[in-house]
Amino acid sequence: SDEAPDPVVLRAVPSTNVFRSDIFAGKVLLCSGGGSGICKGMVATMMKHGCNAAIIGRKADRLNAASKELEKEAGNGTKCIATPGDVRKIEDMNESVKKTIAEFGRIDFVICGAAGNFLASLESLSSNAFKTIQEIDLLGTYNLFKASLDEVKKSHGAYVHVTATLHHTGIPWQSPASAAKAAIETLSQSIAVEMGPWGVRSNCIAPGIIKGTEGADRLTPKGAEDYVASQIPLQRQGDLHDIANATVFLFSEAASYINGTVVIVDGAARNFPGPFLPYPTSSLDQKSIADIVKGSRL
Ligand code: HXC
Repeated sequence: SDEAPDPVVLRAVPSTNVFRSDIFAGKVLLCSGGGSGICKGMVATMMKHGCNAAIIGRKADRLNAASKELEKEAGNGTKCIATPGDVRKIEDMNESVKKTIAEFGRIDFVICGAAGNFLASLESLSSNAFKTIQEIDLLGTYNLFKASLDEVKKSHGAYVHVTATLHHTGIPWQSPASAAKAAIETLSQSIAVEMGPWGVRSNCIAPGIIKGTEGADRLTPKGAEDYVASQIPLQRQGDLHDIANATVFLFSEAASYINGTVVIVDGAARNFPGPFLPYPTSSLDQKSIADIVKGSRL
């Protein structure tokens, strides 16, 4: 018909039972940022498909709790170990790889997902603030790549880097994260080209607005969920399952010829001139940004 369907019809939660549940049996995933948010959802679904996992994060307590939750949620005997560390430190990443090998003996898949972000105008940022985000996002991605490469070469494995769509538009007040995510997509292409001859693939997943994470929920004002959804062509915010399904696909043999690409999982939100944050016309202090953000979204 010429009528668009009721948006409610379009908002059903996607299934994670699309793929065979044992496709990653015997495989091992190492994931930075796996203790929370989008990356935790990615690890959960990889485990449900038979993969053992090791997760990296700075807070040991939170990471230990997350690894137990992930094992329980998978409920299929797969294991998850916590390897606390800071992606900014190559020694920490080497240690995570060592612990993963000691536990599981191999690494097939790596998700570089640890990231930092905050809202601040270009003018109010300090040099150290800018540097901090580059170190977590970009250097952290390189460090985990570097530390895990020998093992991933042995298994002819694959990398998935979590980026964003921020850098497509220069969205205000996220310049450090935008610059870092653009650079990670470029780094991923270098990995794809240089490591392709070893049978190692490297791709990015660029999530849009994904609900069900602390960060995203904080940025979607209560009661505004329907409004936010209406500003996205597919009429809903993304779900953790959307990102997890793309991850399973990219690590699976179905994607064995997909290398050096970016899979954008945002319902085409990036193409839509929706009510992003108002464009800054002058220097803004942190308080005024916070006030504006209260009524807006990233
Ligand atoms: C301006 C800020 C700031 C803010 C910190 N800084 N927060 N500047 N606005 N809101 C400045 C500090 O003043 C300091 O500069 C410098 O940044 C380093 O800050 P620290 O607190 O010392 O850094 P650190 O303890 O390493 O913490 C890192 C952090 C923190 C990123 C700043 O917020 C953090 O660890 N966050 C948890 C992880 C996180 O943010 N996850 C979000 C992932 S979502 P000076 O000059 O004062 O020394 C994500 C998605 C991206 O990344 C795409 C989204 C769509």
